Amino acid sequence: MDNNIIEQKKYKIITYGCQMNLHESEKIGGLLCERGYTATDDETKADVIVFNTCCIRENAEDRAEGNIGALKKLKAKNKDLIIAVGGCMTQQKDFAEKLHQTFPFVDIIFGTHNLEDFGRLFDKKLTQKKKLIEVLPHEEAIKEGTPKCRTSFPNAWVNITYGCNNFCTYCIVPYVRGRERSRKIEDIVSECRQLVKEGYKEITLLGQNVNSYGNDLKDVDFATLIDEVSKIEGKFRLRFMTNHPKDLTEKLVQAIARSEKTCRSVHLPVQAGSNRILKLMNRRYTREDYLEKVELLRKYIPDVAITTDIMVSFPTETEEDFLDTMDLASRVKFAGAFTFIYSKRKGTPAEKMDGQIPEAVSKDRITRLIELQNNTNREQSKEYLNKTVEILCEDFDQKKGMYLGRDTHGRMAYFKSEKNLIGQFVDVKITKTGGISLIGEIIW
Ligand code: SAH
Ligand code: SF4
Ligand code: F3S
Repeated sequence: MDNNIIEQKKYKIITYGCQMNLHESEKIGGLLCERGYTATDDETKADVIVFNTCCIRENAEDRAEGNIGALKKLKAKNKDLIIAVGGCMTQQKDFAEKLHQTFPFVDIIFGTHNLEDFGRLFDKKLTQKKKLIEVLPHEEAIKEGTPKCRTSFPNAWVNITYGCNNFCTYCIVPYVRGRERSRKIEDIVSECRQLVKEGYKEITLLGQNVNSYGNDLKDVDFATLIDEVSKIEGKFRLRFMTNHPKDLTEKLVQAIARSEKTCRSVHLPVQAGSNRILKLMNRRYTREDYLEKVELLRKYIPDVAITTDIMVSFPTETEEDFLDTMDLASRVKFAGAFTFIYSKRKGTPAEKMDGQIPEAVSKDRITRLIELQNNTNREQSKEYLNKTVEILCEDFDQKKGMYLGRDTHGRMAYFKSEKNLIGQFVDVKITKTGGISLIGEIIW
């Protein structure tokens, strides 16, 4: 009998940024699980700490830098601790170099090229002492079969495209994620089928612009993919993000409308309501085009909830431009909006533009926009009162002592239950609609 108790090694991954990054952290976790490690929330107990970074806005970078710096103490206490930093921030070569200088205690620096790189560098690090830095350019071929340690049950993220070809003038993503590449439809559908078999109840297809899926393949587009995934048997919800207004076609809207699996919610980032600003952003649609897309969605899917991303204070944005954005938001009545203040990104065309907006003006604009959006959402919440909605239970909120989940429109509801309901569909009658989220009772 073996008397040696081998203590299992632990890892912690700290993720910044979008859903794409959350899913990539599930792959980094998968590579570590494959090597016998298990996850921990407590970084003082971790043998490996990985930062998966984002550089979409300056504050995302600042937060990551602060948190990496704070690990110096842990490393001083535990010389064997392995610290790795990867993701969009480190895909910028000059940043990787700066990180190397500023935080000499970081052991591995990798980019977004291919996550198997992380596994390979990690194996090397276990056998040699020196620091490993590898930031490779993106390649055409997509690597299939990276193991995943999923952390968002009952939802499962599924990549459909990588990279972006749109080059919006403010955005760093095309530079740190490379050109758009689509996964083969068979690979996507078989991954989804397997996930449904494993009991996942919601699948979210991921791409920087899911609407251009298949542009680099033969005979498939996003509408075909929706049709194919919708044919998978079993009860599950299908979501996808993000859509680009210029590529949202009538054919695609029809595919969404006829799919019983697809949720009645579409995330359609508008960014701005002024044609002058949209042009400077290189978004390739006008406010009129956007409003037409909204009409198209509402024609085929009358109860569709449209959510969006809006940016204020793009260089040269005037009060009049901003009022165009406010006007568009009040016309569309978004079911939700992520709002951002423009942040200058190195290497993008907007970085060189004159007319950067003072901070005080930006703060005032974003406050007004958020207030408008909150009022819209409060009004929409009232319509839910006394209605019964089907909720997919996602989590338990410790503070509130309640379970929570979303309806097909993506609206969050809280409810009490003695039983653990995570991963189950439940009917909830909405009894209170104070703010934006809803509170209700389960109807058994
Ligand atoms: N591919 C997605 C967006 C990914 S980034 C799309 O096109 O919709 C998510 C959001 O971050 C964007 O929609 C935009 O609103 C915001 N964003 C991107 N770059 C930004 C920047 N430089 N400053 C402020 N917000 C930015
Ligand atoms: Fe960035 Fe535009 Fe691509 Fe979205 S579509 S990732 S905003 S360049
Ligand atoms: Fe950030 Fe990279 Fe996503 S920059 S938003 S993590 S693609």
